[in-house]
Amino acid sequence: MKNILLLLPIVFSTVLHAQQEKGLKDYYKNYFDIGVAVSRHALQTDEAGLILQQFGSMTAENAMKMGPIHPEENRYNFVGGDSIAAFAKRNNLKLRGHTLCWHNQTPRWFFTNATGDTVTKEVLLQRLKDHITTVVTRYKDVIYAWDVVNEVIADSPNEFYRNSTFYRIAGEDFIAKAFEYAHAADPKAILFYNDYNEINAVKRGKIIKMVNDLRAKGVPIHGIGLQGHWAVNEPSREQLDKTLEDFSKLGLPMQITELDISVYPKEHNAREKKASDYDTIFSAEKQEKQMEVYKLCFELFRKYKKSITAVTFWNISDRSSWLDNFPVRERKDYPLLFDKYLKPKEAFDAVVKF
Ligand code: XIL
Repeated sequence: MKNILLLLPIVFSTVLHAQQEKGLKDYYKNYFDIGVAVSRHALQTDEAGLILQQFGSMTAENAMKMGPIHPEENRYNFVGGDSIAAFAKRNNLKLRGHTLCWHNQTPRWFFTNATGDTVTKEVLLQRLKDHITTVVTRYKDVIYAWDVVNEVIADSPNEFYRNSTFYRIAGEDFIAKAFEYAHAADPKAILFYNDYNEINAVKRGKIIKMVNDLRAKGVPIHGIGLQGHWAVNEPSREQLDKTLEDFSKLGLPMQITELDISVYPKEHNAREKKASDYDTIFSAEKQEKQMEVYKLCFELFRKYKKSITAVTFWNISDRSSWLDNFPVRERKDYPLLFDKYLKPKEAFDAVVKF
């Protein structure tokens, strides 16, 4: 008996230690994968350790987008993508591909011919096919899911599709084609449509209609990606609950692909910096509000665990986030669960206590 009592402190501290070592991925192992968007550079810093401790999956933040990976018609740059893929393989992390067809970060050559004129629909689709086939084939041994088409639905309630260069040249056909090309290159990959602001009921309705129409035509679309770029003022519990409910009815796997909770009220378009943007202190009030939003998001993610297969954060820690420069350039944001020293924030506790 005495011996057992003597051992207790050791047992207790080991358990405590193991608990401290527990990462997000461990807390959520019976729910869904927890992922993170990374750059090649981050994998060479102390953030790599945090990734291995906390996350079970990664997405390339930029490295596999059309502009970075295919800067000229006859030149690909696989340096970033290959490093991220190698890190994933070495460390047994899942890898999501992002993204094959998007109106942003598209190289200029893609839409014009040698004389600078806009290409025809045939040429555009051929280029899209070559691009998708090359990139998907290169990573088919490691990438299990692709965001094939990103953000083609218009924000304005009066328009259906976004009026992008892809759309102006090829009409809506490029959407189905992109899925078909990706499926032909890797029939095993899970192919996602990915977008933002689905908590808006009108936009959500359009996405659901498009996905249903594509499926009715036999287009290989297998999942819905909700980016999840939210903020201290949205989504409300009702909005998010309804959003997840509506999408879960599609019967397709759903992923939160780019989660972050900005400490500033949500805005969807880039704008100039104004006087009030200079207050960038991460105050106790902002911290509290952010924690509340993170808490409600994960409560609802857990509620819809049957449909949700992964939740991916967009960036690793508050050391740097794309929101430091969007929608306002050089306005520091604090949207993630780890601070700049890579320590868990209050919001982390709210996410893992359930
Ligand atoms: C962002 C990256 O994080 C930035 O580094 C880049 O400058 C712009 O793109 N929706 C998406 C992501 O699908 O690819 C975007 O990522 C954020 C919004």
